[in-house]
Parts: sequence; C-alpha cells; structure tokens
Amino acid sequence: MIIAVTNAKGGVGKTTTAVNLAAAFANRGKKTLLVDLDPQAHSTRCYFRSDPDRDICDFIMDRPSQAHRAVYPTDYSNVDIVPATERLSETAELLSTRIRREERLHRALVALADEYKMVLIDCPPSLGILTYNAINAADLILVPVQPAVGAVVGLESLIETAQELRDEDNVPYRILVTMLDLRTTYTNAIFEQLIEEHRRRVLKTVIHKSEALNQANLAAKPIYSFSRSSRGAEDYDALCEELARLRIPTHY
Ligand SMILES: Nc1ncnc2c1ncn2[C@@H]1O[C@H](COP(=O)(O)OP(=O)(O)OP(=O)(O)O)[C@@H](O)[C@H]1O
Ligand SMILES: [Mg+2]
Repeated sequence: MIIAVTNAKGGVGKTTTAVNLAAAFANRGKKTLLVDLDPQAHSTRCYFRSDPDRDICDFIMDRPSQAHRAVYPTDYSNVDIVPATERLSETAELLSTRIRREERLHRALVALADEYKMVLIDCPPSLGILTYNAINAADLILVPVQPAVGAVVGLESLIETAQELRDEDNVPYRILVTMLDLRTTYTNAIFEQLIEEHRRRVLKTVIHKSEALNQANLAAKPIYSFSRSSRGAEDYDALCEELARLRIPTHY
C-alpha cells in the first residue's frame, strides 16, 4: 500500500507521521520504503546520515527501470529510503516541462512493487507538482491535521485537486488528528467541529502531543529507537494497526 502523507499547511506533523509510521510498519515485519518528497529533507535526516550519490530527483527523473538505484537501506531493520536533498526544488521546476510530469513518482514506485509491502511518502507543505505526484501514486492520502483555528483550511482544495488529478469522485483520504492536547478545552472544541464535518474520514487513532516525539525528532530518530514505551510510540503503533485494518484497495 502506498500512503501519501500530505497537507499544504506547514508544521502539522507530516514528517513525524511518515517517519514513525514507516518504523511502526517495519516493526511488524513489513518491508517499508520511505520516500522523502520534501526539499527540506527532514525525514531523510532521521534515517540517513551521509550524502547520497543519488536521490529522489533521480528517482523521479530517470526511467522507472533505474528507480532502484536511488533506494538505500537504513540502520532501521525493514526500512529503506529514497533520500531528498535541496536539489529537489530545482527538480520540481524542471518537472513542469517533462512529459507525464504528474505520474513520474507512481511509475517509479510501480517498478519496485514486488519489493515493498508499504510505501510512505512525506510531502512538502505545498500543493504543487511534487504533491501532485504523491497524490497520483497513493492508495491512501493521509492528511495530518493539528486541531487549531483553521485546521481544515485547505482540505477542500486538497480533495478537489485529488479528484481532478485522479479523475475520481471518491478519493481515498483519511484525516489524522495530530498533536492533540486533551488539557485544552479550546483544542477540544475545534476537534469536535472537525470530526463533525468529516466524520467518516477521521481516523479513530489520534496522535497526542508528546514531548518524546518532539525530542525524537530533534535527535533525528524514529520514536522506537528513542523512547519505545512513550505515548508517541503507542500512538503510532495504534495508527499502524488501524491503517492495516482499513482494507483500502491498492493499485500497486
Ligand atoms: N505529536 C507531537 N507531539 C509534540 N510535538 C510534535 C508532534 N508531532 C510533531 N511535533 C513537532 O511539531 C513540529 C512539526 O512537525 P513535523 O515536522 O512533523 O511537521 P510537518 O508537517 O512535516 O512540517 P513541514 O510542513 O515543515 O514539513 C516539529 O517540531 C515536531 O517535532
Ligand atoms: Mg515535514
């Protein structure tokens, strides 16, 4: 299954979700590929310490038969990565002139279909050509949302864009509530409203605000290598379990 973690809003927990969900699936013995599609390369930092010869730019610009050359093993068992570098912003501009510009990531991933049970794509905080590629490739579009004022702003345009790109009315998306702080009633009110508007699409699992997750990010480690018994580790484990039960049809 290919999961694109996306939301044009910045700082909502996309990278934290991609990094830790990849680890959670890997912990269950599922061979997982993490694709870093963000020029900020935040998820790359958690799994990859050196400068790669090849990266996500080669992965999407080369022919699909060459895609495997930009895939690297990591120290984390069952997680491989397609690393990002700053070069990706230029590639995004270049892409606009290429044929099949919105399908290139999907074509590259199809070439690796036999090797991975799970693919997690960490998207940049914008609704541009890179995100279009992720949306096209995805079996499931996972939208992390932080309960705060304006939490759902941009959600409609994300879904409309996905419908247009995929020529589908029922785009498979789910909303993941992140950084939930149960102590603030203010947050709770927004959370309730969010659930009301998109009730059927909001995942039961929520990711609580957790200092361990924040510290793991600062240390550039997946939570399971940092604090395995933390709330954050439990939350991502529960998310992994819920997603595995969803039975989303895959075109991969
Ligand atoms: N559940 C959580 N509890 C506490 N802090 C969190 C949690 N999830 C993420 N954070 C922190 O919030 C910040 C933003 O998270 P993250 O980088 O995952 O968001 P993002 O959506 O990928 O951001 P960007 O749009 O810049 O790519 C980071 O400092 C991260 O450590
Ligand atoms: Mg990010």
